[in-house]
Formats: sequence, structure tokens, C-alpha cells
Amino acid sequence: MLEGVSMYIMSERMRIHGGIPLKGEVAVSGGKNASLAIIPATLLASSPCTLENVPDIEDVRVTIEMLRCLGAEVEFENNVLLVDPTTVKHHSVPYEYASLMRASYYLAPVLLGLFKRAEVPLPGGCPIGARPIDQTIKGMTALGADVEIKGGAIHASTKGLRGADVYLDMVSVGATVNTVLTAVNASGNTTIHNSAKEPHVVDLANFLNSMGARIKGAGTDTIRVAGGRPLRGSTYTVIPDQIETGTLMIAAAATRGDVIISGAIPTHMEALSAKLLEMGVYVGEEDDRIHIRSEGKLRAVNVKTQVYPGFPTDLQQPMAALLSTAKGSSTITETIYESRLLYVEELNRMGANIRLFGRTAVLDGADQLNGAPVTANDLRAGASMIIAGLMAEGVTDIYGLNCIQRGYDRIDEKLRRLGARVEILGTGR
Ligand code: UD1
Repeated sequence: MLEGVSMYIMSERMRIHGGIPLKGEVAVSGGKNASLAIIPATLLASSPCTLENVPDIEDVRVTIEMLRCLGAEVEFENNVLLVDPTTVKHHSVPYEYASLMRASYYLAPVLLGLFKRAEVPLPGGCPIGARPIDQTIKGMTALGADVEIKGGAIHASTKGLRGADVYLDMVSVGATVNTVLTAVNASGNTTIHNSAKEPHVVDLANFLNSMGARIKGAGTDTIRVAGGRPLRGSTYTVIPDQIETGTLMIAAAATRGDVIISGAIPTHMEALSAKLLEMGVYVGEEDDRIHIRSEGKLRAVNVKTQVYPGFPTDLQQPMAALLSTAKGSSTITETIYESRLLYVEELNRMGANIRLFGRTAVLDGADQLNGAPVTANDLRAGASMIIAGLMAEGVTDIYGLNCIQRGYDRIDEKLRRLGARVEILGTGR
């Protein structure tokens, strides 16, 4: 056997024996995107911070390593993260870590605030289309930073940050987070127009306010920051993960299951809940619990991704798996990332009938999916394949496990608790 071939066969994968309806109750983990914004912000405190409900995922672990490289003392156990930022002494982040994820560039405004200079390699992240950072540069520059891209890194410096009016040309989570993180260190008032309204942006603002910042309007399209206030350590609980909640809701519907997802925030899920109801799925909500029950054939629907509170781009991939067997023809239009539909070829390997027309996928409902070996090339494509594997007759092996582990905290264990036959192979686990 060829060496390369045998390595492929032996590599890590998630194996799913499909066709089992999920049943029971599962608790959702803390927010990935909220944690990735909040953890860098702890460095701005004058004393240690404790963060609760932090998901145990690769992106968090990489962030922790970046903080340690900068000199912070960090401990992470049982989803509780302790950060002592008082020993931070470096202003530059190593490429080896920064290139592994998108949110690494949140350290640029933080280090700029601490040292008046920052050097952070251009961020990595999922290969889902162009991910420019022009709006981050616009925001930081408006507040008094000199920002240059050279040698593949963001070089920022300042003689002094001062508040200003910033108008973002497009709604961007990353640019909103970076402008807020710059503004808390700027003297005077900043107004950020056309801000992102995502729950993780609100969570970052709530965390910074718990440290002593004064930020108003997070969750609307105008955020106001009264900058330059001293920030102290705080104890804070991260919100539940909106996308993991949605993934579990879709998995429950896709397997014709009966599942309660606890520890969730139902109001964050309205765009998805509305689509599931339209398809004929039962969606019940009570406090922090979402009850999903479905049976029989589900109706086809049309989905268009939008910024929050629209249908999240991060859930269109899981949604495609569910729609692949709905009765009739569905469409999915991806408006945020131009390359975020390429994974549909992997669903077609499992028997889906999906055709691509530019940024729109047309899904003609198949009778059923069949298990097959597939590869997840990005995080949410991985989620899509997990759901397809759970729905399919037979065995599905999902390669590219590292993509899934970047953003889902022990998803295999959660699914097993709901009765699924899921195992991780090739890792020695
Ligand atoms: C964040 C999320 C990601 C989610 C995305 C959209 C994190 C760590 N990641 O990514 O899971 O899929 O929001 O909800 O929170 N854009 C520009 N210029 C910029 C910034 C963005 O043109 O300076 C464009 C992007 O190419 C994209 C759109 O704006 O088309 C949205 O990007 P943005 O909201 O910034 O996404 P991220 O913060 O990278």
C-alpha cells in the first residue's frame, strides 16, 4: 500500500452510524465567538479575570497559547478560564498561532492599548471566501492608530488614541469588535455606526462593562463608548453558543427526534426557529430550554443568510443537510461569504441533489441520504456532515476532524447522550 494512502486511511475521523432519532436532553456549551472576543479583552484588566462557561475547543486553546506567549498566566479547567494579565510584556503574537484562526487579530487593538504598538500576523480561519480587514483598519485608524500591513502582519502604533465617530462601510463582527476594543483605550467618546448586532458583540460589551468600561448600544447598530476608563479584573459567565444551539436544533429535526436543548437563549435563535416552524418542525421555548420535535416528511423552504438577527451564515451549512431530504425544492442563498457553498459536493456524495448557481444552492429533496466517507474542509461544513451522517442510512466517516474540534466542544459526547452512534477513530481516544 502507498504510504500516503495508508496515512489517509488511518487518519482521524468521526464515524456515525445514521438513522437513529435523537432523544433526550442536552446542555449547550459556552459561546465560541463570544469567548474569542472576550478572552483577549481580559489582558486590558489591571487584575486577574475569571471567565465561566468557556467552551473547550481548539480555537480557545490556541487563544490561551497566544496569551501565554505574551506573558499572561492562564489556567483552564472545567470550562473556567483564569487569566492574570499583570505579567504581559510582549506586543507581538507568533505567526504559528495567529494563522490558525480568524479571531487572533482581536489582540491587535488590545496590545495597542497596552503598549501603544502591536504586531499581529494576518489572521487565518475557515477557507470560506475573502476575509478582508479593511474595516478594522478603518476603525483603528479613525481612533488615532497608524496601521500598516507588512511582512504578512498587522503593525499598529499610536502616539495616543482618541475617541471619534466611526462609520463602518459594512456590517462586520470583526471590525465592530476591534473598534470597540480600540475605543475603550481611547480618550473621550467614540460612536460606531453600522455596528454588528450579533449576540457575541453584546457579550463582549457586557464583559468590558463588568470591568469598568462604559459601552452603550451594543446589540443595536450604533455603539457608544466612553473611553479611557480604568479596567479591572472581573468574573463573568460567557453566553451559550448560538451556533451550537442551532446545530443541535437542526440535528434533532433532521433525525425526526425529540430533544430538549438546555442552557440556551431562545431569542438568539429566532431566525432558525422560524424556518424550522415553516418546515413543519415543532419548536417549543421555555426560559433557557428549546424543545425540538419532528416526524414525517418536512416541507422545503428558502433560506437567505443575513447579518444578525437574520439567518446566520454559520447555520446555512447544517441547514443544507436538513433540507436535502425535505419535500420539494429548497434554495439557500449565501450573501456573506462567496465560497461558503462548495461543501455541497460532499452532501451530494451522500445522495443529496444539490446544484449550485453562483451564490445560490438549489436543493431538490432526496428520499434519503446514504452513508459515505466525506471530508470537512471548514468548521460548519463539518457540522453539516455530522447532521447528514446522523440522517443517513449506513455509516458515514467524516475526515477533517480538526476543523470540527476548532468550534464544537465534545459534540460526539453530546450526540451519544442523545442516543446517536458516534465515535472518534484514529486518535487513540
Ligand atoms: C464572524 C464569525 C464567523 C461568522 C461571521 C459572520 C468570529 C470569530 N467569527 O467572522 O463565525 O461566520 O462573523 O457572521 O466571530 N468584511 C469586509 N471587510 C472587513 C470585514 C469584513 O469586507 O474589514 C466582509 C467579509 O468579507 C464578509 C462580511 O464582511 O463578507 C462579514 O464579515 P465579518 O462579520 O467581519 O466576519 P468575521 O468577524 O470574520
